Amino acid sequence: MCGIICYIGKQNSVPILIEGLKRLEYRGYDSAGIASLDSESNNVLFVKSVGKVSELEKKVKSHKFKGDYGIAHTRWATHGKPTESNAHPHTDCSKKLFLIHNGIIENYEVLKRELEKKGHRFVSDTDTEVLAHLIEDNLDGNFEDAVRKSLGMVEGTFGIAVIHRDFPRKIIVARRGSPLIIGVGEGEYLAASDVNAFIRYTNRVIYLNDDEMALLNDDNIVITDLNLNRISKEPETIDWSVEGDDKKGFKHFMLKEIYEQPKTVENAIRGRLIEGEGISKLGGLEPVIEKIMNLKKLTFVSCGTSFYAGLYGKYIFERLTDLDVYVDYASEFRYRNLKLSEYDGVMAISQSGETADTLAALREAKRKGALVLGLVNVVGSTIAKETDAGVYCHAGPEIGVASTKIFVSQCVILNLIALLIGRRKGLSIFDGMNLIREIKKLPEHIKTILENGNVIRDIARKYLSFKDFLYIGRHLNYPVAMEGALKLKEISYVHAEGYPAGEMKHGPISLIDENFPTVAIATNGFTYEKIVSNIQEIKARNGKVIAIATEGNTEIEKIVDDIIFVPETIDILQPILNVIPLQLFAYYFADFKGCDIDKPRNLAKSVTVE
Ligand code: AGP
Ligand code: GLU
Repeated sequence: MCGIICYIGKQNSVPILIEGLKRLEYRGYDSAGIASLDSESNNVLFVKSVGKVSELEKKVKSHKFKGDYGIAHTRWATHGKPTESNAHPHTDCSKKLFLIHNGIIENYEVLKRELEKKGHRFVSDTDTEVLAHLIEDNLDGNFEDAVRKSLGMVEGTFGIAVIHRDFPRKIIVARRGSPLIIGVGEGEYLAASDVNAFIRYTNRVIYLNDDEMALLNDDNIVITDLNLNRISKEPETIDWSVEGDDKKGFKHFMLKEIYEQPKTVENAIRGRLIEGEGISKLGGLEPVIEKIMNLKKLTFVSCGTSFYAGLYGKYIFERLTDLDVYVDYASEFRYRNLKLSEYDGVMAISQSGETADTLAALREAKRKGALVLGLVNVVGSTIAKETDAGVYCHAGPEIGVASTKIFVSQCVILNLIALLIGRRKGLSIFDGMNLIREIKKLPEHIKTILENGNVIRDIARKYLSFKDFLYIGRHLNYPVAMEGALKLKEISYVHAEGYPAGEMKHGPISLIDENFPTVAIATNGFTYEKIVSNIQEIKARNGKVIAIATEGNTEIEKIVDDIIFVPETIDILQPILNVIPLQLFAYYFADFKGCDIDKPRNLAKSVTVE
């Protein structure tokens, strides 16, 4: 959600900023803008546009401007429509200050009223503009002090970058609740809300923490907290390949990421399984392993697809460990009055590691004394940094807004964590070895499903005219039904509802007729017979059924309208295979409809506002 990129150095900042914005596009946005300054002439390029970064780029190119430092932004509107005047950067009354912001200034109305009384004139509907005028109001010869003072007056969340024509060659960046990472290059600094934006220039980074501010200068950087105390931080070198930003011949990043999944599983398990002992090794959890073993309860908190991974994790942990496992939407968990103690574990599951609700839930759990753990993809992200311990997915960047490979990675790693705990308690070496053997076969099984992509594409084409879909699954496959429905709705804008199949009779069956098809997850397992009964009930009401079934099941073929076969594995791993055809079905469905698959409307990859 929203992207920030800044550059100060000897090169022309304009193309670097535009390229940075393009690399941030996947996060989701509705408008974009740039302010670049040339320190010799003190001239400024200040351009904004609604829509794609390519529109902004066209406008920028026509100016043929060169500026050695600058800031640029993609906006995901929270306050005010996506218009040019609401796009960032925002300026003050003097038009000398340029500010970009990610987050929400919650007390903007009060501040705006006071500033208006003092004569400040506002030109946008955003909360952000308040901060530009507030800095102007507090400016008394010292730019840093004015920014610091103003940030002390705002409530809410921010990642900001600000420049001022009267204070040349200075970029001030700061954060509270929204990510901001500084890139340290050779004689140049970059800053962005996501390392993807500048990884081509440097992999040496400094992570700002909440309520920290940095002044990027010609050849140095000064970091302080908001009370002026100096903070010394050394750059860390990160291992984040640029491989992720090339579609590698695939039409969309989403399709590329779906096809990457055999590799994703390999990356998730590399060096983490010892088959002979039937155990897993997760270095990130080792420092707190005794605390984990003393837990009485574990709660997964997350949002969206990561929530469904947690829902799946609950079944896995119940099967492999003796822990009481709960799962909660982070946005609900954060406002509940929970009684937590050191015997409670709370595990945040997040691709981005920046999701505002998940982060808030984690902080609430920490405040109450729980052991906080993370299962995160983005290395060095806020959630990864704030947990007591955790595990990384090591899946590389996921660019498609619709999460695919990370869901699979999270599900695999949840097995590894459960195995780690289970084997120290009641789980037998035999069960551990068996699980590991089957996990290792997953990449081959996934390849088999992917080779079947054309069949899935044809089925998607056949169902294109339908406007509503029901997805059903039982037990371990219930989370997969939810995830399948989420995939379809988010990228194709078609209504899809996921349901535990047993709940069908308690309401949704009334929707079923020849216009309301059902996707039924009906692979072998101990609830197979039950789901077949549900399918029969749907067929009896003229509903069409697409089944996901185990290879070789000739019985079910006779009942359903269409069938997608998947290879068989042990029941606890089966959902990891079952989700793949659902990802492909959603992908092809949306592609036939001509949707903007990698950047679906209204959605953001990293949801940094509540
Ligand atoms: C996934 O397809 C979604 N776009 C979304 O639900 C996502 O999973 C959710 O926002 C959580 O993100 P996170 O994993 O980065 O925390
Ligand atoms: N709240 C600000 C706005 O609506 C910033 C949104 C964003 O994070 O892009 O302009």
